[in-house]
Amino acid sequence: MDHTTNHTTAKAPLNDPLDAPLLDVQDLTVDVLSRSGAAQRVVHGVSFTLHEEETLALIGESGSGKSISAMAVMGLLPATTARVGGSARHRGTDLLTLPEDQFRALRGRRIAMVFQDALSALNPTLTVGFQIAETIRAHEGVGRREARARAVELMARVRIPDPALRYRDHPHQFSGGMRQRIMIAMAVALSPDVLIADEPTTALDVTVQAQIMELLAELREETGSALLLITHDLGLAAGTADRVAIMYAGRILEQAPVQELYDRPAHPYTRGLLAAVPRLAGDTDDLTPIPGTPPGPGLLPAGCAFHPRCPDVGERCATQEPMLLPALPDPPARLVACHYPLEVSGAR
Ligand SMILES: Nc1ncnc2c1ncn2[C@@H]1O[C@H](COP(=O)(O)OP(=O)(O)O)[C@@H](O)[C@H]1O
Ligand code: SF4
Ligand SMILES: [Mg+2]
Repeated sequence: MDHTTNHTTAKAPLNDPLDAPLLDVQDLTVDVLSRSGAAQRVVHGVSFTLHEEETLALIGESGSGKSISAMAVMGLLPATTARVGGSARHRGTDLLTLPEDQFRALRGRRIAMVFQDALSALNPTLTVGFQIAETIRAHEGVGRREARARAVELMARVRIPDPALRYRDHPHQFSGGMRQRIMIAMAVALSPDVLIADEPTTALDVTVQAQIMELLAELREETGSALLLITHDLGLAAGTADRVAIMYAGRILEQAPVQELYDRPAHPYTRGLLAAVPRLAGDTDDLTPIPGTPPGPGLLPAGCAFHPRCPDVGERCATQEPMLLPALPDPPARLVACHYPLEVSGAR
């Protein structure tokens, strides 16, 4: 399905507006290669779009393939470790087929990423100010003095107190939250129009989490960029995202505008996830975790990947894999991969 090149009618395809999406990921696959060269598929045809000024949350349990999908889109998976298929078009340019030198020029400038663990993403031996300034110098060819001034400005913009002083500190001299702010400053240094934040607050305590999410939302608003927020935390996504995509075992199982998805989950897995979150389940006495655990990559069941855990399993589920298709209660914005999706009432 090509939404960007075959626009011969005035009608918008699926949930896309007429303009081409900023980032259009279609049928992304990732095969992880072992040392012996054996391939293990961990991402099984993931598709999503990200529009200007939009926040899309990619939600899934640990191991569902969120990070590796993001790394694939960022061109950060070495060819010796993984094989990537499908397409990821940024303003029409397929990132997945770009030569590495062209990708390097574009990374940071057009699409940038904030990682979960700022401490390991920063160089411990260099001052944070120098690291931000070098990012600017390497890409924009400005002099030391200007790069330094812009780095201090960026530190102020992500609310580091006394930025000119703190410029000279090393990563370990900052708290976890302040370090994540430094990572965000580096990610937005070149004004990318797509920012991918992979579990940006997971290592932080709850109050600091909220502050970092607020900062990300504020920067997104100010710069008009788009945000792909990767998280396992449904509560976090609820306050930030416009749309949500639910991932399981390397696939997207449901996608919808955030309120619609939380109010009326159509996929049994989404409903299970929501029922297990205190803040979202409503009645906190009635938390019901989904029984069982997600399958490992080598242990995927036939048919629907969720069927061994699904309370609504039907006769087709063990043999036929459901496709992600527009579904009730609100197509075409809602996409669901299930043979027997739940209806508006919550009953099948
Ligand atoms: N470098 C790697 N080598 C082998 N397997 C990997 C590698 N990176 C990720 N995987 C596997 O890919 C799957 C998805 O991992 P990941 O993308 O990190 O999940 P998530 O970010 O959703 O927690 C997991 O089963 C994981 O074991
Ligand atoms: S396809 Fe079947 S097993 Fe999979 S989620 Fe839907 S009802 Fe459950
Ligand atoms: Mg991850």
